[in-house]
Amino acid sequence: MAGCKVNLMQNLKNEELKRWIQEVADLTQPSKIYICDGSQEEYDRLCNEMVSSGILKKLNPEKRPGSFLACSDPSDVARVEDSTYICSKNKNDAGPNNNWADPVEMKTKLNTIMKGCMRGRTMYVIPFSMGPIGSPISQIGVEITDSPYVVINMRIMTRIGNKVLESLGNSEFVHCLHSVGAPIEAGQKDMKWPCNKTKYITHFPETKEIISFGSGYGGNALLGKKCFALRIGSYMGKNEGWLAEHMLILGAESPKGEKTYIAAAFPSACGKTNFAMLIPPVEMNGWKVTTIGDDIAWIKPAKDGRLHAINPEAGYFGVAPGTSLRTNKNAILTIAKNTIFTNVGLTEDGDIWWEGLTDVPPAKLTDWQGQEWTPEIAKETGRKAAHPNARFTAPASQCPSVDQNWENPEGVPISAFIFGGRRATTVPLVTETKDWDHGVYWAATIGSETTAAAVGAVGQVRRDPFAMLPFCGYHMGDYFAHWMDIGKKITNPPKIFGVNWFRKNAEGKFMWSGYGDNMRVLEWMIGRVHGTAHAVETEIGKAPSFTDMNWNGLPMTEEQFTELSKVDTNEWLNELSLQDELIEKLKDRLPNKFLEIRKETQIKIESRHSSIKNPGLNLTAKSL
Ligand code: OXD
Ligand code: MN
Repeated sequence: MAGCKVNLMQNLKNEELKRWIQEVADLTQPSKIYICDGSQEEYDRLCNEMVSSGILKKLNPEKRPGSFLACSDPSDVARVEDSTYICSKNKNDAGPNNNWADPVEMKTKLNTIMKGCMRGRTMYVIPFSMGPIGSPISQIGVEITDSPYVVINMRIMTRIGNKVLESLGNSEFVHCLHSVGAPIEAGQKDMKWPCNKTKYITHFPETKEIISFGSGYGGNALLGKKCFALRIGSYMGKNEGWLAEHMLILGAESPKGEKTYIAAAFPSACGKTNFAMLIPPVEMNGWKVTTIGDDIAWIKPAKDGRLHAINPEAGYFGVAPGTSLRTNKNAILTIAKNTIFTNVGLTEDGDIWWEGLTDVPPAKLTDWQGQEWTPEIAKETGRKAAHPNARFTAPASQCPSVDQNWENPEGVPISAFIFGGRRATTVPLVTETKDWDHGVYWAATIGSETTAAAVGAVGQVRRDPFAMLPFCGYHMGDYFAHWMDIGKKITNPPKIFGVNWFRKNAEGKFMWSGYGDNMRVLEWMIGRVHGTAHAVETEIGKAPSFTDMNWNGLPMTEEQFTELSKVDTNEWLNELSLQDELIEKLKDRLPNKFLEIRKETQIKIESRHSSIKNPGLNLTAKSL
């Protein structure tokens, strides 16, 4: 740290934090160290500096007050799952669901590549709280980063600064080290979006450390989100008896004013933000949805025998393309001001645009790669105005549907969990599982088509247990067992449902209208929670019949609903065999109960399948 200017160092009370700052500075050799106080003045100053250096563009204050656009390097646009590692001492503790590296070897490698990696840059120290400061469910981390873009995003996505340091005192914190891996040598000009071809997103769950190198984008760089709140969080939760989940949390208020809180897990870019901010159809007579969180839930058994959940984040890092007044009016209102946009198009009047924002696109704009874009060019070349994983970062407090309890330190009591995937076939609109363990089995075996949120092929069905495949910080088999154990610790377990908003018909068209109409499915589930809605048995669980749902204002025929809800035994036999790969991989740590439930499901589907194929046989058997 010799020769390096540091502000506020004398204010630091945490001995380990002082030691660690020194250690990182010695390794990375920044030209300045800056401890973030979290103030508005600091945020504004950093934004202005980034406008001057060209990293940010200030948007037209009349159209989008207090808002900025950043455009990344085309090679740094999404989470990099192939370069993400869990470095546990024992390889099998990371499980086949993670890339593993030996912690000592990985640290040695990182110490080599990070030598001098912050040269010419300021090293920012960001104390942050995941969850309301002081909540018994919250946790504190400190991110050291050489990216001012990360600082301003972290200020929106978490609670940062002096008040966190005060609350931390001299206690333990999660160490989160991030570098874009692009030192600026003397006389060199900075890159427009600094990053490095080599990327490592590494986690050391046993020592609660994260080290991320080479990327400046989203979950790779905002270390409070996926790295801490999910990968390290899930490991902490296993050891301490709680759950860190890839879930939105919403409140649904009935026309009678009864509030039910529900948490729902869907893979990345499958509509969690839209569902969390849902506006029910007017014909549904006064239902109202409020938002606690749109991406992550930390959930703990509480004294009342129920599970209570908080949203550990303070903002939304939502997928922009497809977001519009029609699909998510609350999100559009949330991002009206004080928002950072990344990789969207810039209109001629200094505002933003992305595919789906309006039906009629602007006649001309600058696309996310800085090139001229017109609807004609898009038609000819297929070039998009916004990258499919373009994002907005906006404060949760600006959301019109934010729940009055969204910062309640005790969290909100959860009455139901919903698990969904993106499936063109096989999976019906909604299924109620039999009980907690059956719900765990359902969530564990979910498959979903991949999206642009991660680098790699889009649209391929992969098993994504609990929508946690890229985020579970330990062996998935142990994770299923942990879920089953949590069920035993509560007297009033939430009901567990499966949904699929994405089923397609023979013409390849979505069969379900989704968005606000998802309230119809929610209403049925809430009726099941409170014992007022009817259901019928299927081979895979319970489901509503056509007359059990509210169709006011939606032209749905019984035939269409039957198609949308069909359990096709051929498809399900295939689904069971697709699950074999997951089971084979995890078998050494799968709970017995899980295998028993799978066997029961298989027997039910097979017996229905043979009764469909041989109806006569069944009749004979019955009459004997
Ligand atoms: C996200 C993701 O950014 O899941 O939320 O990728
Ligand atoms: Mn997510």
